Amino acid sequence: MMTEANSCRQDLSWRTGVKIVPVHCDSSNNFEITPQALDAAYNEAESHNIKVKGVLITNPSNPLGATIKRSTLEEILEFVTRKNIHLVSDEIYSGSTFSGEEFVSVAEVLESHDYKESDRVHIVYSLSKDLGLPGFRVGTIYSYNDKVVTTARRMSSFTLISSQTQQLLASMLSDKTFTENYIKTNRERLKKRYQMIIDGLKNSGIECLKGNAGLFCWMNLSPLLEDPTKESELTLWKSMLHEVKLNISPGSSCHCSDPGWFRVCFANMSEQTLKVALTRIHDFMDGRKAMKTSPDFSSY
Ligand SMILES: Cc1ncc(COP(=O)(O)O)c(C=O)c1O
Repeated sequence: MMTEANSCRQDLSWRTGVKIVPVHCDSSNNFEITPQALDAAYNEAESHNIKVKGVLITNPSNPLGATIKRSTLEEILEFVTRKNIHLVSDEIYSGSTFSGEEFVSVAEVLESHDYKESDRVHIVYSLSKDLGLPGFRVGTIYSYNDKVVTTARRMSSFTLISSQTQQLLASMLSDKTFTENYIKTNRERLKKRYQMIIDGLKNSGIECLKGNAGLFCWMNLSPLLEDPTKESELTLWKSMLHEVKLNISPGSSCHCSDPGWFRVCFANMSEQTLKVALTRIHDFMDGRKAMKTSPDFSSY
């Protein structure tokens, strides 16, 4: 599966020892997960003697910044049923959709299909993204599997949330007027920011995957690569870092096998900072164009 970044791979594996096998998706179909990609990852795992226990998805996707279609969720569900494995859906960005297609939770798919084997499906969520509260360390598991819920309840004794935090959150989240207003305002602001970054990048000649959720967009810099490789992608990442001091996650750090894609975070900074970043990207792109057209380019 395509996971957030190397750190995510480590978060998942350090404690549990699980091995993560990426499901490779690419730009030919807007990085959508297909049954073929799932089968290929499954076979890859088996060829390394890895016993596949489940599929982990992030919906809305990190790093794509887009929701997963209902039909794709149905295909994933069909795949895990066929292979008799689990499905974990990380829906941490579900309250941060801001335009176009609505977010569909895997829970809705299960209910609409009256799916009989729900106990293989588990949803995880936390307040870190939609509510911007990573420091509170509050997360949830919504599972249809009694064994998972019982185990999670027992394990949670070791990571209890302070009573003060619980008190504060309970009063905040039970206030319907506040929550409705919060989600509405969050959406409006994300939408505005998204438009600002997309327009700014377009102005510099950069295209992005159409997004509708999350705190980042998926930017295509493949036309700038010397050759279509991970090495070229990392060279480009280093150039941006050193020449214009922007650290934009390269796709390869999210196990993306299609070189040249980068994840740009646009929501964790002030509008002013974003404007500065866009100006620097513009300068960087101008520099690249000048290099390409320079008669002395061959001597670089
Ligand atoms: C998809 C996804 N899941 C989980 C996390 C981790 O969230 P938390 O801060 O609640 O541990 C992140 C954070 O970047 C994320 O992007």
